[in-house]
Amino acid sequence: MRPTFHFTPQKNWINDPNGLVFLAGEYHLFYQHNPLGDTPGNIGWGHAVSTDLITWTELPMALPYTNGIMAFSGSAVVDTHNSSGFGADALVAIYTAHHTTRALQTQHLAFSTDLGRSWTLFEGNPVLDIKKTDFRDPKVFWHTSSHQWIMVVALPNERMVQFYGSSNLKSWRFLSDFGPAGSVDGIWEVPDVFELPFDGTSYWVLKVDVGFGALHGGSGGQYFIGHFDGQRFLTDSLETNWLDFGKDFYAALSFSNLEKRRIWLAWMNNWQYAQATPTTPWRGAMSLPRELSLFRDSSGLRLRQQPIPELEQRRGEVYTRHNWSIENQHLELPIRGEQLEILVEFDALKASEFGLGVRIGVDSYTTIGYHLNSKQIFVDKTQSGAVFHPDFSGRHEAVFPLEQGVLRLHVFVDSCSLEVFVGSGELVFTELIFPEPNAEAIEVYAVGGSVELKSLAVWRL
Ligand code: FRU
Repeated sequence: MRPTFHFTPQKNWINDPNGLVFLAGEYHLFYQHNPLGDTPGNIGWGHAVSTDLITWTELPMALPYTNGIMAFSGSAVVDTHNSSGFGADALVAIYTAHHTTRALQTQHLAFSTDLGRSWTLFEGNPVLDIKKTDFRDPKVFWHTSSHQWIMVVALPNERMVQFYGSSNLKSWRFLSDFGPAGSVDGIWEVPDVFELPFDGTSYWVLKVDVGFGALHGGSGGQYFIGHFDGQRFLTDSLETNWLDFGKDFYAALSFSNLEKRRIWLAWMNNWQYAQATPTTPWRGAMSLPRELSLFRDSSGLRLRQQPIPELEQRRGEVYTRHNWSIENQHLELPIRGEQLEILVEFDALKASEFGLGVRIGVDSYTTIGYHLNSKQIFVDKTQSGAVFHPDFSGRHEAVFPLEQGVLRLHVFVDSCSLEVFVGSGELVFTELIFPEPNAEAIEVYAVGGSVELKSLAVWRL
């Protein structure tokens, strides 16, 4: 079941990505990790590095559980101008200290002056303590126009985030609150805030995750688009925007210190069943890194996610076909695999439903389909393989009107995962699936009429 181009730990439990940062040609991925078991416990920051965001090398733990303090989620920055006094270009991690002997969460610092290989806990910890049991997941960034570090941090039970400012990362001043807004059914966790351009104007995105009570009931992420002025986040639109229409994309975090691109990745899982996923000796995987941008649809600005182009290096044997009509058929393709990339453009014509079947075996079938009348794109994983928990399986859909009848899908299949980028990433479905061994066939299908495959390319990865 182990994915080949998604990060998984050699062994034991992981959850959220933490401290994503680029420094001296290396991408750092830290993550919530239990080094001693495959369920949550003894949580600290595991660590891996990569030069291409795809192949990762696991390093020793960066921030292990010590002295009654688990290192919960947080972020990392490069302190280029030595504002903290830890050293020029010091890597500074800002994370939640989860105190195991009292009901308290506080924000702590640790730093590294050797490219993340060894870490020193700051003597003046905590750097922020508001005496709360639940107060966590600080994301820190440098805000150029107000010339200060900004921290966005969650108050989970209040369904709020708070902003703090600092000149040195060590002392923090309260700036503002945001929320409750959008989806408030579940607790709020793991905020992220960043700037993205659109049409010559700069906008700000505030992402915050919703634990239990998101789109499909369990964990999921939402976002708001507005402005950040150095003090507060302002938006005209408080409606709920979901990040992903599958069940398995949580705690997304974007890289800091990347100059031109905004790239994030998430924990490909859901707290509803994360402790029961049928893999061993590892448990938990990260999503593909995705590049973010904005686009406009009829209801306003939206977030687009696209797979990073670096993934093209993984392409091997390919099957292609153009201008191919199929009618009331399921057709198996002459290429198979457990690791595939599929790029397809359908011209809807008149078929009432059409799409792809992937990871097909004797008893497994996962459908990525489009239903013309309801204008719904869907992923059906009710027959995809092992169902190890009552909340795991399902059929997930989203309305996606077609432009000129054309549907473009960009799909990545990797052992136990499926990521479907719809259109040019206007919608994404991220799903875990656990098919039987050798469920490697792939099909195209049309029912209730014909569909034209304007272009199809399937690569083995
Ligand atoms: C999100 C989360 C964070 C917390 C971490 C603990 O999945 O609950 O809020 O810091 O996981 O591992």
